[in-house]
Amino acid sequence: MKFTIAPSILSADFSDLSGELKKINAIYDSWVHLDVMDGHFVPNLTFGPCVVKSIRNVSDIFFDVHLMVEYPENLIGAFYNSGANAITFHIESTHFPMRLIKMTKEFGVRVGVALNPATPVEQIFPILEFLDIVLVMSVEPGFSGQKFIPFSLEKIRRIADFRKKHGLNFLISVDGGVNEETAKNILLAGADVLVMGSYFFKNDYNRVVKFIEHLREK
Ligand code: DX5
Ligand code: ZN
Repeated sequence: MKFTIAPSILSADFSDLSGELKKINAIYDSWVHLDVMDGHFVPNLTFGPCVVKSIRNVSDIFFDVHLMVEYPENLIGAFYNSGANAITFHIESTHFPMRLIKMTKEFGVRVGVALNPATPVEQIFPILEFLDIVLVMSVEPGFSGQKFIPFSLEKIRRIADFRKKHGLNFLISVDGGVNEETAKNILLAGADVLVMGSYFFKNDYNRVVKFIEHLREK
């Protein structure tokens, strides 16, 4: 199976981010997933553009920024300037997704839309043709280490069916509870990118690498 691995540094050792980035860089076809939380859209706080900018200085890898914030329009420019390669905002965080898509594309970075578990896939059907990435949240956003919500698989399948039917080519990324038990079914449902937080950083690195290789051989 062909897929991209996007480890989320939310579960990494923040006292050694450059060491953690090397672990990600050593994985074939990988991105760094950067979870930005504002304490309002989600009940947790993480980091802002300064942190992203400083790790940009030590890495060339693709930066996949996931904004879990209110008023994402206020931050898109700052994350572009900090070195983001893709910026994803939540459909629940705006009434004007087309405006945000246009704004993000004007910076020349890839644009994604994320949807929370309870948000129906139909809500994003009208805008799918304008997107580079759809981020399906398979846990409620805000924290790593939560259990994968099984109905997410059906949402992935329906988005993948729509993509096929309309000849579109955005990537489907899946975020939350991705691990040895869930990854294969997520890929079979149609995902292209696996975001991995706790599974990637809280397990033995060699075991994680072996599992990813094994999955690629299937
Ligand atoms: C949750 C974040 C995720 C998180 C995933 O709000 O968007 O990216 O880091 O963590 P795991 O893989 O542990 O569920
Ligand atoms: Zn995320």
